[in-house]
Amino acid sequence: MSTTTSEALRDEVRRRYAEAALAVDEGEARGCCDESCCTRESADFGESLYTIEQRGELPDAAALASLGCGNPTAVAELRAGDTVLDLGSGGGIDVILSAKRVGPTGRAFGLDMTDEMLALAVRNAAEAGVANAIFLKGVIEEVPLPAASVDVVISNCVINLSVDKPAVFAELARVVRPGGRIGVSDVVAEDRLEPAERAERGSYVGCVAGALSKGEYEAALEAAGFDDVSVEFTHEVADGMHGAIVKARKPLQAG
Ligand SMILES: C[S@@+](CC[C@H](N)C(=O)[O-])C[C@H]1O[C@@H](n2cnc3c(N)ncnc32)[C@H](O)[C@@H]1O
Repeated sequence: MSTTTSEALRDEVRRRYAEAALAVDEGEARGCCDESCCTRESADFGESLYTIEQRGELPDAAALASLGCGNPTAVAELRAGDTVLDLGSGGGIDVILSAKRVGPTGRAFGLDMTDEMLALAVRNAAEAGVANAIFLKGVIEEVPLPAASVDVVISNCVINLSVDKPAVFAELARVVRPGGRIGVSDVVAEDRLEPAERAERGSYVGCVAGALSKGEYEAALEAAGFDDVSVEFTHEVADGMHGAIVKARKPLQAG
């Protein structure tokens, strides 16, 4: 992808998610896929992927702002005292749930490039009463945190939006401490689908056209030095495209 094309695509992603954040302020939910397939009623995306108990822990605006395709907090095995990083934290839903889970001795960072989403997330965390949620402005291809500073990286329907996925995997390998882990939800394609076929099934800003295939995801994480890599499909969002749980662990010692 040329630099101009990827910059234009990233600007389009930012513009679209700024609009989604502003829509929440107006009391309207807007999902992360094409208008036709992502409504508030859709069970494929958004707050319906969380348990009733989890939704009860959240301010209404945080639940309304949910634009994910899974529930990474359900699979990331967060423990008291963990430092968690959420890539592309949006309205803050997974950061707030993580902050509650890791408790006062832990911290949950949310990283997002869109000012309107960051403002919404800060308000939501304040309303939820969590003091250990920290929101950072930046891109997931260049994480503004030191090396080996994070126990767990989570993310919900964001890595497919990256215009430079090798940079994201390199950053994952850099920020996760040895022995740390990742638990990510994302849209993932079956290996039979070529990139052009993925693009026929949905837009880039709608979290479909930029999706990696299962084999590509596994290979990228293994190349970045992760062990115990797994990519499990959870629900189909378009023909051959799935919401998926991606897990991996960084070895205690480099192999
Ligand atoms: C589909 S929404 C998901 C938001 C949140 N994870 C959730 O589950 O509700 C994508 C979010 O990722 C952010 N984003 C997309 N690409 C990004 C990038 N390269 N760097 C940082 N943030 C990014 C957008 O601003 C938006 O808030």
